[in-house]
Amino acid sequence: MSSFMGKEQIKDKKFDFYSVQGLNQVEEALYDAVSGCGGQTKEICFDLIEAGGKRLRPLLVLNAAQCFGELNESVINTAAAFELIHLASLVHDDIIDESNTRRNKPSLNAEKGNLTSVLVGDYLFAKAFEILATNRLIPAMNLAVEAITEMCDGEIIQADNRFNFNQSVDNYYERIYKKTGILIAACCQAGAIVGGATDKEIEALKVYGIHMGYAFQIIDDILDFTGDPKVLGKPVGSDLKEGNLTLPVLKIMMQEEYKRGLEQIFAQPDFSEDAYKEILRLLQDSYALEESYKDAERAVRIAQEALREIKDSSSRYSLNEIAEKILVRKK
Ligand code: IPE
Ligand code: IPE
Ligand code: MG
Ligand code: MG
Repeated sequence: MSSFMGKEQIKDKKFDFYSVQGLNQVEEALYDAVSGCGGQTKEICFDLIEAGGKRLRPLLVLNAAQCFGELNESVINTAAAFELIHLASLVHDDIIDESNTRRNKPSLNAEKGNLTSVLVGDYLFAKAFEILATNRLIPAMNLAVEAITEMCDGEIIQADNRFNFNQSVDNYYERIYKKTGILIAACCQAGAIVGGATDKEIEALKVYGIHMGYAFQIIDDILDFTGDPKVLGKPVGSDLKEGNLTLPVLKIMMQEEYKRGLEQIFAQPDFSEDAYKEILRLLQDSYALEESYKDAERAVRIAQEALREIKDSSSRYSLNEIAEKILVRKK
C-alpha cells in the first residue's frame, strides 16, 4: 500500500504541488493576519493573498512538522508567518527587478507604485513577526530573522554584480543560497522544531531545505529563459536584461568557444531583441540549459537523500515528492 495514504492531490488548478492537512487553515491565518489593517492596506493585502502562488513554503512547514507530530495551531501559525515573509520578499523583489507582473496579475509596484509597495512589504514582514512573537514561536522567529538577513544580503550581492562577467558558478551558488535557500531551509527547520524533531532530524531537514532552495532557484532561472509567462504568471527574459547572470549564462561562460560570443553580444551598446535571441542560440548550442538542469537534479537528489535520516511517513513521502516536482515545474 502506498505510504501516500491520507494526502490528496490538490485539484485546484493553481497548485501543482501536493496538498497536506492544514493548508486551508493556513489560508485563513493569512487573511486573519492582515484583516485588522485599515482601508487600502487591507484590500491590497487581501488581493496579494488571493493571487495565490504555489504555497511552497507553508507546504514545507506543514509537511516537515507532520513528519514528527500532530497538526496544531503552532504549526499553522509558523506556516502562515513564513508565507507572509515570502510574500513580502516578492513585493520588494518586484520593485528591485522593476517587474510588472506577479502571479498573473499586475505587480503591486506596477499598480500602486514603489512607495506603497515598499510599505506593504514592510507591513507583511511585521505581520509575520507579530504571529511568531505573540505565539512565542521563538526558534522559528530566530530562523526567520536569519533568513531575511541573508535574503537581503543575497539581493545586495546580486545588485552589486550586475553585468559582472568575472563571476563563477560558486558565486552564483553563494548568492542563491542566501537569496532563496536559507528561507526554504528555515521553513523546513521551523516545521521540524515545532513538530518536535530531534537535533539530528532538524539538521537533516536543513540539508533538505538548502538543496531544495538551490534546485528551486536554478529551475526558476532556467524558466526565465524557457518558460511561458502566462503559465509562470511573471515575465520571462528579465534576468539577463537586468544584468543578473544566472547559472545558464555562467555555464556558457565556462566554455571558451561560447564565452567570446557572449562577450561580443554584451559589448554592443544596446541590449536588443536580436541580442537576446543570439543568447538563446548560444544557450542551445552550448547545452547550458541542460547542464543547469543537471545541477538542479543533483541538488534534488541530495535533498531527497537527506530525508533518509527521518522515519518513514506520508509526510516524508510528500517532502520527497515536492522535491521531485520542483524539477518538472512550469510555474
Ligand atoms: C518565487 O517564488 C521567488 C523565487 C524564490 C524564485 P515562488 O515561485 O515560490 O512564488 P509563488 O509563491 O509561487 O508565487
Ligand atoms: C528570487 O529571485 C527572489 C527572492 C528570493 C525574493 P527572482 O528575482 O528570480 O524571483 P522572481 O523570478 O522574480 O520570482
Ligand atoms: Mg524577481
Ligand atoms: Mg526569477
